Amino acid sequence: MNIRTATLADVPALANIAVTAMPDDPQWDYRFPYRLKYPEEHLAAIQNVYRSAVEDEASAGTVVKVLCNDKDEPMALSVWDLLYLGKASGGMANFAPNPNRPDASLVRMTAFLKAFQAAHDKYFDSVYGNKQIRLRVLCVHPDFRRRGAGEALCNWGFDLAKQEGVPVTIVASPMGKRLYARLGCEVLGEYEIRADGEDESCTEICMILRKELRAK
Ligand SMILES: CC(C)(COP(=O)(O)OP(=O)(O)OC[C@H]1O[C@@H](n2cnc3c(N)ncnc32)[C@H](O)[C@@H]1OP(=O)(O)O)[C@@H](O)C(=O)NCCC(=O)NCCS
Repeated sequence: MNIRTATLADVPALANIAVTAMPDDPQWDYRFPYRLKYPEEHLAAIQNVYRSAVEDEASAGTVVKVLCNDKDEPMALSVWDLLYLGKASGGMANFAPNPNRPDASLVRMTAFLKAFQAAHDKYFDSVYGNKQIRLRVLCVHPDFRRRGAGEALCNWGFDLAKQEGVPVTIVASPMGKRLYARLGCEVLGEYEIRADGEDESCTEICMILRKELRAK
């Protein structure tokens, strides 16, 4: 397994991993309830997200790290906002509600972003400002799980955070929480995402790897 920085040539592979792996995170079907009805539009929208994440590296301090198989094909991906570089707010535009996406629920994307930003303000940004690294996305292709790929990608950013003397902040899914807890992260709190007038909701978990609590 080899970890490297993603390039624009990897964008189709990144989107394929995301649309295959991320439905195991409940917020995915919450935000994109029509993804199975509009699979091509869903894939195209996710490709746009990853294209801009790869392009953002120089301007916004976002880094996409991939873990590859022995043919150098990405099997897992992680997106990191290196906020300590002080370049920008960290790629929040990629979560912006898009009224032109048929695969997504606009009201849920709006509720998601509002709750996400409020939680970041409360648990992370009001305390650490730019002195943090944010793990924005972690996903591993289902065929490649439970081999340490998620842990290896986490350790790339955790090692950088240790070197820079900053914490890693994470909004975790239930699956992610297990991995991050095993690696020494601590739960700060949870929040619920619910659009006005809807019963459906999902819950996200705010976690932190404090520099002094790092597992290894
Ligand atoms: C969460 C996720 C990223 C974990 O990826 P992964 O590559 O399977 O993670 P790891 O292999 O490092 O660790 C996962 C488990 O496999 C176990 N494992 C690690 N290496 C192993 C190996 N060689 N053999 C068997 N099991 C192994 C770990 O102990 C761990 O077990 P645990 O969950 O009981 O603690 C992946 O399940 C995923 O993509 N989920 C959907 C998207 C998601 O929720 N992402 C997190 C968003 S915050």
